Formats: sequence, structure tokens, C-alpha cells
Amino acid sequence: MENKLFDVYSKYAITIDSSKGCYLFDKQGKEYIDLYGGHGVISIGHGHPHYVETLKKQLDKIVFYSNSIEMPLQEELAEKLTTISGYTNYSLFLCNSGAEANENALKLASFKTSKKSVISFNNSFHGRTAAATNVTYNQKIAAPINKNNYPVYFLELNDEQSFIETIQKEDIAAVIIEGIQGVGGLDMPSESFLQLIEKECKKNDVVLILDEIQSGYGRTGQFFAHQHAGIKAGLITMAKGMGNGFPIGGILISPDFEAKKGMLGTTFGGNHLACTAAIAVLDVIKQENLIDNAAKMGSYFQKAFKDIDGIVQIKGKGLMMGTELTFPISDLRNLILLNHGIFTGNSDNPNVIRILPPLNVTTKEIDLFVKAFQMELAPIL
Ligand SMILES: Cc1ncc(COP(=O)(O)O)c(C=O)c1O
Repeated sequence: MENKLFDVYSKYAITIDSSKGCYLFDKQGKEYIDLYGGHGVISIGHGHPHYVETLKKQLDKIVFYSNSIEMPLQEELAEKLTTISGYTNYSLFLCNSGAEANENALKLASFKTSKKSVISFNNSFHGRTAAATNVTYNQKIAAPINKNNYPVYFLELNDEQSFIETIQKEDIAAVIIEGIQGVGGLDMPSESFLQLIEKECKKNDVVLILDEIQSGYGRTGQFFAHQHAGIKAGLITMAKGMGNGFPIGGILISPDFEAKKGMLGTTFGGNHLACTAAIAVLDVIKQENLIDNAAKMGSYFQKAFKDIDGIVQIKGKGLMMGTELTFPISDLRNLILLNHGIFTGNSDNPNVIRILPPLNVTTKEIDLFVKAFQMELAPIL
């Protein structure tokens, strides 16, 4: 058949037909282990029975109506999300994707401060919409229309000196930083760097935007990755794990921000089905202690990989992991998929395999991965 799709994605010649937990199945019933969750989206596992059941029930009632009516489901989601995250006095704005969450967070920061320059970091990724593209390090994804639409200072992660110098410039509205860099290759801001950023933002009337789109939702063993550093952000953006595959994004907004009618908006954001998915995700995370499981399985993973020859470093935290080798990983990753049926991810760092499994992954799947990894790595070394 002639390909009628706009061909922008590199693809494996695999068609997935069904799924359960950490497993995917093709039409012939071949089983795959999912250690990547389609870019970290699958938080509570594929086809979780509670998720499926509540979505089916909601489908029978109502799928969508716009934000012009009362939305008890949005209120329930906001209550549960602010409680589980510890951001109890923050409010929630709902949208449909990660880029949209960052786009609106950057707007909010600019509305609040009446300023328009932003500090971002080398190797960052914040999405492909206008303002989000501008703070993304890889400017190959920027069209001429995106370029330099407001000033951005890209700094080295954890470079305190350049951060302190830059934040004192007059026009800085926001600092945007990932809890752990995902697309960039699993580099992390140190706890002391995050603490410095929090302090300097307060001092200089700058909004701290924590992009937890990939690192949030329990993945690192805390609800948000920046909470390991004991800091609070003015705005926290989230998306991927939030709906376990149903598109939904959001921003938690500090009480320092005043909402004005019409200030932000979206047609689809916070619709009935999306909220139902997001509520089911939070209920399962809580009932099944998935944040604890992420921490435990992350430590198990770290130990299992610690002594494997050829690994330069294990990066990340909890179930947001990267194994860095001394050479590009693309062949190794392909062999692990083709010979062992295990999905993993890559990043902008060609030497890093990215691992973002569902939060209910067990030692069984990790052991199978370790075995496959060693088996395929040995002949290459
Ligand atoms: C940290 C981070 N921010 C923003 C985005 C953009 O999210 P979306 O693809 O849902 O627009 C991503 C996507 O990979 C991400 O990892």
C-alpha cells in the first residue's frame, strides 16, 4: 500500500496489536517486554483493569464537553493530584500534551513578571510548539518562524557561576528545567543546583518552571523528581505518565499566580474522558504503592548493571534510567529488540540506552533485560 502518512518518524517493522502490564503482543502473538512505555507514557502498565473499567464506564456516560460547564471530574483530579504531590495549595490547569503545558507555563511566567527572557539549559527538551521550541536546546527542530522569538540563555547544567551571573540580568521571566533530562540523555541537575535555582528565582522575581513531563508522576521514586532536592517550583508541568496513554497534560500553579478569565484556554483540555484516565492513574499509583516500587526497582536495576563490563555509568533515578556505554548504542538496542523482544529507548546522547518502564515493572523483566544486554554486549566488547 502507498504510504499516505507524512513520514516524520523512524520506525521498527513491528505492529503491536494488544498489551498487558509490561508486555506487548503482535498479531502473531509474539511477546515483547516494554521497558520504554512509548517514551515514558505508560505509568500504571498497559491495560490495567481499573483503568480500562473506569474508562469504559465513562465512555457510556459522556466523552467530552467543553470548559463552559461545571466539571466535577476536573475538581476530583485536582484534589487528588495536589494531595499526592504535596502541592496542596496549588491550582491545576489542564491541557493535552507536554508542549502545550510548557507553552502555557512560559506564558504564565511572562504574564506574571511582565518580562520575556528565559534561562534554559544545554541538552534540554521542552517540546515543539512556539515558546517551547525556543527553550529547547536542539534548534534543528526550530523552523525560521520559531527562531529567537524571545531571548533564551542556554546554560550548562549545574554551572552555578554562570547561572548566578545570568539570572541577575534585567529581563528574566523564568527558568525552565527538567527534573531529569530525558531526550538529552538522562543528565540530572544536582540537588544543590536546584536549591540554588529556587533561592535565586525568589530573590530576582523569576518564575521557576519545573518540567516534570517525563520525570514526574512517581517515576523517580518521588512524585516529582525535583522533590528529591526538597525544593518547590512556581509552576510544574506534567503530561506523559498522567493519562497512561490517554492524551492529557497539566500545570500545577502556585497560589502567587492570579487567574483571570480567558488568560489561558483550550478546547479539549480536561475533558471527561481525559480526567477519568488521569484519576484512574492516580488511584492505581496510590493503591499499588507504585512510587515505592519505582524506587525499589530503580535500585535493583542500578545494582544489576553496576558491574557489567563496558558500562561507563548508570544515569538517572528510580525508573528513569540510562546506561551509558563507550560507543553508540543503536546496534545493541536493535539486537536486544530483535533477538529478545525487549523495547528500550535512545536519546540525543548516542551512547545512552534510555529505560522508562511502567512503574509496576518487576525484577523478572529487569533480569531478562540484564541477561539480554550482557548476551548482546559480550561479542561487541
Ligand atoms: C521533558 C519534556 N518536556 C516536554 C516534552 C513534550 O511533550 P509532548 O511530546 O507531549 O508535547 C517532552 C516529550 O518528550 C519531554 O520529555
